[in-house]
Amino acid sequence: MKFSCFGKVMAFFSSSILSFSTLFLFMLGIASAQLSSNFYSNSCPTALSIIRGAVNTAVSKENRMGASLLRLHFHDCFVNGCDASVLLDDTTSFKGEKTARPNANSLRGYDVIDTIKSQLERECPGVVSCADILAVAARDSVVKLHGTTWTVPLGRRDATTASFDDATKNLPSPTLNLTALKSAFSNKGFTASEMVTLSGGHTIGQVQCSVIRDRIYKENNIDSNFAASIKKNCPSTGGDTNLSPLDQTTGVFDNTYFKDLVNKKGLMHSDQQLFNGVSTYSQVNTYSQNSAKFFSDFGCAMIKMGNLSPLTGSKGEIRTNCRKTN
Ligand code: HEM
Ligand SMILES: *[C@@H]1O[C@H](CO)[C@@H](O)[C@H](O)[C@H]1NC(C)=O
Repeated sequence: MKFSCFGKVMAFFSSSILSFSTLFLFMLGIASAQLSSNFYSNSCPTALSIIRGAVNTAVSKENRMGASLLRLHFHDCFVNGCDASVLLDDTTSFKGEKTARPNANSLRGYDVIDTIKSQLERECPGVVSCADILAVAARDSVVKLHGTTWTVPLGRRDATTASFDDATKNLPSPTLNLTALKSAFSNKGFTASEMVTLSGGHTIGQVQCSVIRDRIYKENNIDSNFAASIKKNCPSTGGDTNLSPLDQTTGVFDNTYFKDLVNKKGLMHSDQQLFNGVSTYSQVNTYSQNSAKFFSDFGCAMIKMGNLSPLTGSKGEIRTNCRKTN
């Protein structure tokens, strides 16, 4: 089932008092992003099926890879836009994003992207960008894990540089409170509501013990049986890299993450914050009872995230190896 995001935009306009010229400028803004879902239909008609096939293979082999690929797209887009900068290895001219604190020993899936890229280079050399591979792989991962779907706008090009400092500054930390989370997302143009929606990405995947230790040992707004069960695999000292599922149905993209928050079973401090403040808890409640609403909002929010400052036209390049500039 596909949902339309345009209705949301129009609902926004009809509920706001805006002049036609503002509307016109807004439409121009959409057009200037220059992404389109049929971008490769002539230049590489098999691109989407190649990506889907490779994602399905990788996720069948290891369920968690679907989560890792979704996160990879998020960590790309929040750092100077969706330009595949996250995939660049360090060079002598820049220190890249891979070793920045939010990514180091945590972000994964690079090898799956390499596999997809080499298949695409065999089929249509120099055509499909690494940034678009990330966007499509994120969507295909969510579909493969029984979640929702959306149409991915395409035509992003790849950055020729990456920034360790910007990755450190722009990616939200799991220790943030609600106020700080809101401002991290507002800095990227997202409302608090869109932040709640996107946080639903934590319905899949795993988290390391070091990230959740303070929450399960020190916080009070956590279900005590739940905390006790997580402690079994996350001791108060040691076992830093031991993994725990981010929600109670971690292999499935569903609304269980929100049910967990309502039940004080959010695993990271930042997760539980969404059910802590008046400004976001009613939305968490709604999603916990209405997965269709979460699914349709998630697709729209992912399209918006995928539109963060793409390089288009003659900007950037189409890398032949996602880890290196040409
Ligand atoms: C709201 C602010 C967010 C914070 C503070 C945050 C933080 C984190 C942290 C600390 C981890 C675990 C890393 C580790 O233990 O190695 C994680 C995992 C994950 N995050 Fe987020 N995240 C946020 C938003 C998002 C968004 C918007 C998405 C995607 C739409 C996302 C998708 C994921 C996924 C899928 C995983 C599991 C990855 C895996 O298992 O490999 N996160 N996040
Ligand atoms: C949230 O965190 C910021 C930065 O650490 C702090 O200045 C602020 O007082 C906190 N806000 C609340 C409501 O706890």
